[in-house]
Amino acid sequence: MMKENPENAETAKKVHIQTYGCQMNEYDTDKMLEVLRHENYIQTDSRDDADLIILNTCSIREKAENKVYSELGRLRKLKAEKPELKIGVGGCVAQQEGKAILRRAAYVDFVFGTDNLFELPEMLENVSKGRKISQTERHARQKVRNFIPDYTFQKSQNFGVKAHLAITKGCNNHCSFCVVPFTRGVEVSREPEHIIAEAKRLISAGTKEICLLGQNVNSYKANGTDFVELLKSLDKLENLERLRFISPHPKDFHEELADAFVTLPSLCEQMHLPLQSGSNRILRRMRRWYTMETFYEKVALLRDRLPEATLSTDLIVGFPGETEEEFEMTMEAVRNVRFDLIYSFKYSPRPGTRAAEYPDHLTENVKSERLKILLETQEKIVREKNEALVGTSHEVLIEGKHHRKENSATGRTRGNHSVSIKNWEAKAGELLTVRITGANPNSLVAEPLSTSPVSG
Ligand code: 5AD
Ligand code: SF4
Repeated sequence: MMKENPENAETAKKVHIQTYGCQMNEYDTDKMLEVLRHENYIQTDSRDDADLIILNTCSIREKAENKVYSELGRLRKLKAEKPELKIGVGGCVAQQEGKAILRRAAYVDFVFGTDNLFELPEMLENVSKGRKISQTERHARQKVRNFIPDYTFQKSQNFGVKAHLAITKGCNNHCSFCVVPFTRGVEVSREPEHIIAEAKRLISAGTKEICLLGQNVNSYKANGTDFVELLKSLDKLENLERLRFISPHPKDFHEELADAFVTLPSLCEQMHLPLQSGSNRILRRMRRWYTMETFYEKVALLRDRLPEATLSTDLIVGFPGETEEEFEMTMEAVRNVRFDLIYSFKYSPRPGTRAAEYPDHLTENVKSERLKILLETQEKIVREKNEALVGTSHEVLIEGKHHRKENSATGRTRGNHSVSIKNWEAKAGELLTVRITGANPNSLVAEPLSTSPVSG
């Protein structure tokens, strides 16, 4: 049976969760905190006063994985000073490594996979009896289910103005560079009723913007509901101002979804469409199942419906066998599409993936050089695009006070541009019309239009 939320902070234990990697991991961390709240834990930002430390790990790239191991090294010292401290490792590295982590770092108490976070109470019970746990079993292979049990949301809990909501988990695509199908398993779509119920709970607790999460959201299909139908149901929810999603796969982006951007008022004019490479030969070797020609068609489809839509992408440089000419094709795509935002990565081989076995890996120097060229070009494009926004008006959802700038608020446009608003008293959750007055490399500066600014 579930316990109540800790009412008396003095009797509660403290948990510190360190999150690495993607939004799905951040979402999982929130769920872990929810489970642990029912077990009389409260969250602490400090590792030093925690009774329990959990690392929610990421293995998408080598660099991310190395970070986890160096953090584990630091925790060894902490455990030596405080033997009663419990240490757990969850997420993608834990899913892949399992017991190997317990062998490599004997001071870790438990390891759990991406499907096992809701078993935390049982694991902690066993850990308290002095047992070492490795729980990385996958659950039954069902295409549709509610993979997030319903917990009673506590009134005292602070929900953000913006929230993530998982609609699928896992991936069936097996892009040749990607470890996700190994760490997150096969694709499972969550039942629409459960997604709607979670959305309603978030909205009633003050959330104004929901971002749907999944490795390949547009292949969502559950109980006869497809992705566009799900968007339509969510759009109808009262008091939901904004709806977004990440990430769609270009091969599954079609006219019906493009139309939804026009017909659904809450669906924001912004899309993340991961391209990965501008060369058809590399795309084939990546097993992406689209060509540059079809990618251009998809971009044209979106821009035909919504000329103002912002577009972001993921790109990998230095994929095995990528020639200078093929890298130049990626650069050409970047110059042609003029993305608003690029997440760019040097290829890194991941254990178990096909591409890791390809014979023609490039040197670190070549990869770094190509990344540098890509970043420089993109910086110039973003500067030009941001400067072109000066003078235009936008709706901004206020997220709170600006961390550094006094008397300023921060928020985002529907296009997902980060904006700081001068002379504005922050009221998280407020929607404000602003005029852009300045452009920085990663953000915009604005003044409010719809209400008068704060004096002084
Ligand atoms: N090396 C480099 N980048 C990768 N990504 C995924 N796997 C790798 C890898 N092995 C990038 C892709 C993906 C994003 C989430 O991370 O661009 O879209
Ligand atoms: Fe990885 Fe490809 Fe699935 Fe994205 S679509 S999670 S890159 S396998």
